[in-house]
Amino acid sequence: MTAVGWGKIILLGEHAVVYGYPALAAALDRGVTMDAVPTTKGGMRLNIPAWNATIKANDDSELARCLCAIADALSIGRPELSLVGDAQIPHGAGLGSSAALAVAIARAMLAWAKRPADPATLAHAASASETLVHGKPSGVDVALAITGGLGVFRRASGLSPLKRSDGTVPSLRVLVGPSGQPRSTGTMVQKVAEATGERPADTRLSELGKLCDTGTNALLGNDLAALGATMNRAHEVLSDLGVSTPILDDLCKQARDLGAHGAKLTGAGGGGAVIAIAPRDSRIEQEILAAWKAMSVTGFVATLGAR
Ligand code: PMV
Repeated sequence: MTAVGWGKIILLGEHAVVYGYPALAAALDRGVTMDAVPTTKGGMRLNIPAWNATIKANDDSELARCLCAIADALSIGRPELSLVGDAQIPHGAGLGSSAALAVAIARAMLAWAKRPADPATLAHAASASETLVHGKPSGVDVALAITGGLGVFRRASGLSPLKRSDGTVPSLRVLVGPSGQPRSTGTMVQKVAEATGERPADTRLSELGKLCDTGTNALLGNDLAALGATMNRAHEVLSDLGVSTPILDDLCKQARDLGAHGAKLTGAGGGGAVIAIAPRDSRIEQEILAAWKAMSVTGFVATLGAR
């Protein structure tokens, strides 16, 4: 059976989430899929044609170290196993690709070993890989890659799925624009650590936390204009922390100029992707996608939450 790890976007709260504040985040309807194919020779290896990635477990590369970290966390040794994957999200674009990959690998390994893939085991294995890539991951990417859905993540308590008091789950159409600018989550997390002195009381981090609370209430109340306003302000605060770039600023400005309620970078920044929410009018969505295309960015619309 093909294993999956979902990609994700962070609507509000990235970086602050590392310091204990909430993040409003959702799994994408796409991610990384993986099959484990037993072989007789060649050792443990990983092949993802969509990312042009072919590695052996004993290669000297970050991806090989991640593969081994997952295998070690699951105590499966180095079996004769070919892991063959497909990816529907770009790599290194702030869409949770490394966590989606780690979860898909862990699920495929557990299926091969005929062991249950319970969330705690998956989180333990994927976090071993994420620690190598990120240094200090909050865990939001891994939680969403495992369960999917839409919720508020806190470092201390994990992911709480978002529900209204009447039990309904909010849904949201989001435009996603992967800038194509490469970046490193670890470097950006370090940049914020230097900008804030790693003090959770830093006013920019606490404002990002408050914006997350305000935006979450706006989403629960179906107030897209209010949600968009919190996203616009969060982008400014993230810029002030040094994690935006001129390309990300331009992509957000284009979206706002064309009528988006809000736009911001998503994930670690320094490159990667932007997100925008538009009024419920497909013409504006199409105009934003066309404007991004003219800037050589192929965006897409993702439906988050209830389907
Ligand atoms: O850019 P991504 O998908 O790696 O997201 C990182 C999110 C951060 O809040 C910046 C870091 C974290 O571990 O939560």
